[in-house]
Amino acid sequence: MNDPSERLTLKEQYAVIGNPVAHSQSPQIHAEFARQTGQDMGYERLLAPVDAFAATARQFFSAGGKGLNVTVPFKHEAWNMVVAHAGIALDSEAVNTIELVGNELVGHNTDGIGLVTDLERNLGCPIAGKRILLMGAGGATRGVMRPLLEKHPKLMVVANRSLDKVISLVSHFQKFKDLTPGGISASPYSDLAGAQFDLVINATSAGLSGQMPPLPEGIFAPGALAYDMVYGRDTPFLRFAHKNGAHAVDGLGMLVEQAAESFFIWRGVRPLTAPVIKKLRS
Ligand code: ATR
Repeated sequence: MNDPSERLTLKEQYAVIGNPVAHSQSPQIHAEFARQTGQDMGYERLLAPVDAFAATARQFFSAGGKGLNVTVPFKHEAWNMVVAHAGIALDSEAVNTIELVGNELVGHNTDGIGLVTDLERNLGCPIAGKRILLMGAGGATRGVMRPLLEKHPKLMVVANRSLDKVISLVSHFQKFKDLTPGGISASPYSDLAGAQFDLVINATSAGLSGQMPPLPEGIFAPGALAYDMVYGRDTPFLRFAHKNGAHAVDGLGMLVEQAAESFFIWRGVRPLTAPVIKKLRS
């Protein structure tokens, strides 16, 4: 037991699996959480071939791995692979956290809780009573809809370029319509002219390619918050929001908060997130 490499292999191992994955900040975040809470664990990056997610994930668990974070493009495959879905994961059709329970893989989605916590606790923006515009109809939107609705916004409009896709997504979530007095509706961007929102969330991947959804000017109500789930870059949406008088924020806080929720699922301990967000921002 004096051999350090032997001690290393005894550490409980976690990883973020994706493709690409080299850019992921998750190892740094979880290393901070582990240091802060005195947890003896390892956390690494795991690159899976695009056509071999399930095989790579199973191999990780067969080798003794305890939990995985799942990132692009595998969240839906992870949802298909796990044997049980906890909390909101069933409706989100996307899993970003896999927990080994006994011999079974259980899927969670902590993205929505991460977003809600960042909005309400870190940014001081209560969701109750807000008019929300959520842009995009992919996995990122699916993952955050129910946690946002559970905070009782005044209404929620989901906009997308492809109208079929957003109509289908919104119809899936109509079972939660009583959580918001103004209801949940699908909209093309062209119908947004004249409408105003207190909270505008960009869940599209547009920012990654230097683009933004076609929003009309005047979309931001006075005091509105514009939130881009993309982090670490000044996206066209954030610049547009700033120019149009909104408070513009990127998704770094959401990234750290979803990681904290995963950490809690795996380790049963809640790390402090504020110092980690501050460190990453600097
Ligand atoms: P994710 O799982 O990250 O949500 P996705 O399922 O590929 O990724 O979805 C990407 C979303 O970004 C889609 O809603 C897409 O709109 P369409 O369904 O109309 O394609 C949206 N998107 C990507 N680029 C965009 C752009 N330049 N303008 C507006 N929406 C964009």
